[in-house]
Amino acid sequence: MKKTNTHTGFSRLVYAVFLTLLAFVLAISLSILALITYQDNHMAEVFKPKPPRQATPVLIIPEAAEGVRNGVDIGTGLIADEGWEMVRANCTACHSAKLITQNRQTRDGWKEVIAWMQETQGLWDLGKNEELILDYLAKNYAPENKGRRANLKNIQWYVLKESRN
Ligand code: HEC
Repeated sequence: MKKTNTHTGFSRLVYAVFLTLLAFVLAISLSILALITYQDNHMAEVFKPKPPRQATPVLIIPEAAEGVRNGVDIGTGLIADEGWEMVRANCTACHSAKLITQNRQTRDGWKEVIAWMQETQGLWDLGKNEELILDYLAKNYAPENKGRRANLKNIQWYVLKESRN
């Protein structure tokens, strides 16, 4: 085409600038379009109806359970007799309370166990609480219990009636 040859340097420049601008505008429009499309998909994801909630099975961790049931602390298994909270506070920091509940000792025996832990295992000085702790241990975890409950005495037998519930 002859006409192109008639273009002056100036009009070529204008043409070039125009083309560059056009390219820019196109690029920006495309980016915006891409962004909107992405956002739409993303929002669809966000607002997608969620599946109905299902009941979550509840796992009861015995160590985390609290409260006393049938005279026994559920969390530790310690007999909830006088001083048991002191024992829980001082004797379950390093090991399970099972070491206590599965053990049987005389008062002197318990004293020795405590002294041994103090000498070799870093058990702290129990101060005046030691008496209370020893009383508790000697009473509730004495050798004659032999790991079983004591025989029942003075049982009042009664005749089972038909259950009302
Ligand atoms: C500073 C840590 C610590 C504390 C607190 C602690 N113990 Fe221990 N105890 C130990 C260690 C360590 C052992 C050895 C564990 C093992 O053998 O697995 C142990 C073992 C025992 C045993 C078993 C002993 C044996 O002959 O096997 C008994 C019973 C016991 N502890 C009772 C107690 C009582 C009661 C208290 C509270 C007065 C207590 N512990 C507090 C660290 C501790």
